Amino acid sequence: MKITIISGSHRNPSQSEKVARYIEKILQQEHGLDTWLYALADNPLPLWDQSLWEDNLEWNERLAPIREQLTTSDGFVIVTPEWHGQAPAGLKNFFLLFNRFELGHKPAMIVAVSSADGGSYPVAELRMSSYKNNRICYIPEQVIVRNVEKVLNDKAEDNDQEADAYFRERIRWSLGILKAYAGAMKPMRDSAQVHHDKFGNGM
Ligand SMILES: Cc1cc2nc3c(=O)[nH]c(=O)nc-3n(C[C@H](O)[C@H](O)[C@H](O)COP(=O)(O)O)c2cc1C
Repeated sequence: MKITIISGSHRNPSQSEKVARYIEKILQQEHGLDTWLYALADNPLPLWDQSLWEDNLEWNERLAPIREQLTTSDGFVIVTPEWHGQAPAGLKNFFLLFNRFELGHKPAMIVAVSSADGGSYPVAELRMSSYKNNRICYIPEQVIVRNVEKVLNDKAEDNDQEADAYFRERIRWSLGILKAYAGAMKPMRDSAQVHHDKFGNGM
């Protein structure tokens, strides 16, 4: 089973990527899963343009290796910082570039990141407006890593001990739920006509 982790911050380095790397480690070491981590640091993907829908060679070559990784994934962790009360533009662009054949009917867990006590707005935004056509399935469990600079650091002295222990336990447990959804949803995809030429987009 393979889980892909998307780190949605354009910053390099970023707290989101720190959290994404921690999640990757737990998925590998404690849940025994294959992983792929894709960071949107420094904006590796150009903004969507019309030629994407015109079988453009440059787009196809650029996206092919990423499509391959997403298509072979059984589930996703979407790590999003809260930036001015929103998910970053690069992450929304990601959802314009990839579609139901890569993401459709696969479970995804949202992990929001805030340097203070924010983080709920991008959760609401992703749940409302990032799934319609690609049919990614956000699971009910989510994690909001508040005061992120004080948790999940390698050096124990950089962490707020109590908060750090809480988030480590919570993330580990939540990833177990995601793993169970990923296992349960593969037979679901195999047992139904999940792709329909006439109904390519959600309503
Ligand atoms: C452009 C920008 C806007 C931000 N706006 C918010 C915000 O609205 N709410 C919040 O809790 N944190 C906000 N932050 C702080 C982030 O929570 C903080 O940078 C945190 O480390 C997560 O972002 P990162 O993954 O890019 O590091 C903002 C950061 C940036 C760079």
